[in-house]
Amino acid sequence: MTLPLTNRLNHLLNKKPISMHVPGHKNMTIGYLSALKMEMDMTEITGLDDLHQAEDVIAQSMQHIDKHPDYDAYFLVNGTTSGILAVIQSFAKVKGAYLIARNVHKSVFHALDLAHGSSRLLKMHISNKTKQYVGPDESALKTQVVKAKLAVFTYPNYYGECFDVASTIKYMKAHDIPTLIDEAHGAHFNLTGFPKSTLNMGADYVVQSYHKTLPSLTMSSIIFIHKQAPLRESILKYLSYFQSSSPSYLLMSSLELAHEFYKTYDSKVFFEKRTQLIKVIEDKGMHIINVDDPLKLNVQCDGYTGIELQTLFENKEIYVELADTNQVLLVLPLWHKDDQFPFDDLLMRIQGMDIEHRDPFEETYLPFYNEEGIYDSREINKIKKISIDEAHNEILATNLVPYPPGIPVMLKGEIITRNMIELMHYWRNHQIRVEGMKDNKIEIKDE
Ligand SMILES: Cc1ncc(COP(=O)(O)O)c(C=O)c1O
Repeated sequence: MTLPLTNRLNHLLNKKPISMHVPGHKNMTIGYLSALKMEMDMTEITGLDDLHQAEDVIAQSMQHIDKHPDYDAYFLVNGTTSGILAVIQSFAKVKGAYLIARNVHKSVFHALDLAHGSSRLLKMHISNKTKQYVGPDESALKTQVVKAKLAVFTYPNYYGECFDVASTIKYMKAHDIPTLIDEAHGAHFNLTGFPKSTLNMGADYVVQSYHKTLPSLTMSSIIFIHKQAPLRESILKYLSYFQSSSPSYLLMSSLELAHEFYKTYDSKVFFEKRTQLIKVIEDKGMHIINVDDPLKLNVQCDGYTGIELQTLFENKEIYVELADTNQVLLVLPLWHKDDQFPFDDLLMRIQGMDIEHRDPFEETYLPFYNEEGIYDSREINKIKKISIDEAHNEILATNLVPYPPGIPVMLKGEIITRNMIELMHYWRNHQIRVEGMKDNKIEIKDE
């Protein structure tokens, strides 16, 4: 039998990996997914309703996702991606431009391509701690808000940093602009000790990847639509276009179980274990960069790049969410009473990590690209590949997306500046994997 993927997964599981990454069930050690049976992988037979026209048991189940009385919840079986595609597509025929935070996920740009939408990219604040985009620059909002039809923000960012999104939503409301909040990393928000969700702030559409931080199966997400939000019917129509016509009952059932977990969650155990874990990490000479979301631990160590740290963790079969030049990002489990997570083993493996004392790196200049701009969603038909050294003043033909976190930094249609080339060199020199850049080459418009 040739089963390369199955064999690889089995090989990995045999090494007893410890998950410090998504999905939130952490190799099935957190939450209630043991209640799922593989035989539940069914289809729309009598009695099982139909996600695309839910009237019976699926409708009841979705009504149970009652995080806030102002919102209706709908299951997504093709991830938060499908919710983002549906909302943006629904606004395609509305006059005006999309207003886009620069740190939106690539699914937003894919949606803009499909909707042929003209969009304005907002200048952002950059975090001193993680060197990532956080929230929109307020003065950029003021200049770009005119004749916008939908604003899209990511909250929190991948690294667990928040911004004053309540004021941003309020500002948008004052200008009659609906907001889509990509809360992919915030399904656990509003639990005691965690940041507030934008469901408390009147956002029009909020999309949460339950699978990332809560214990549900990968690809299971929820879109919350405010009862007063425009275009609900159109969004539901496009959800049926962008999602499988055979929605997985396993995914939907896992959402129900994850929501039950959320509703009954007591975060006391989480915060106790988090404190213990941080102590063990710090005793090894690593530092924690504290961010708004306690579920995210950004770990740095003097003299080590994040990529090197990742290898040290992986040598102990501890798998992190991502590594960049500065740090590794751990997504902590929502530990709970009677969970199956190998916590003591985790502490022992970290205590056994091979970390040597090194001097800190000298502060180096990190080039960053952060300007207001326009995203050109039109197809570029004639394309050629050139070396990044020859790219000055050319027009970029494909988005450049460092992965992870999967956020496009340079966008199709942008004129390539020296600053952008400098950043491309930086990625190459630090061996950062960038979708759209290969062997030191990128695609440009061939006029
Ligand atoms: C900020 C953000 N938005 C959206 C998505 C897409 O979510 P999903 O994987 O649920 O489709 C991701 C996935 O990594 C993300 O990081």
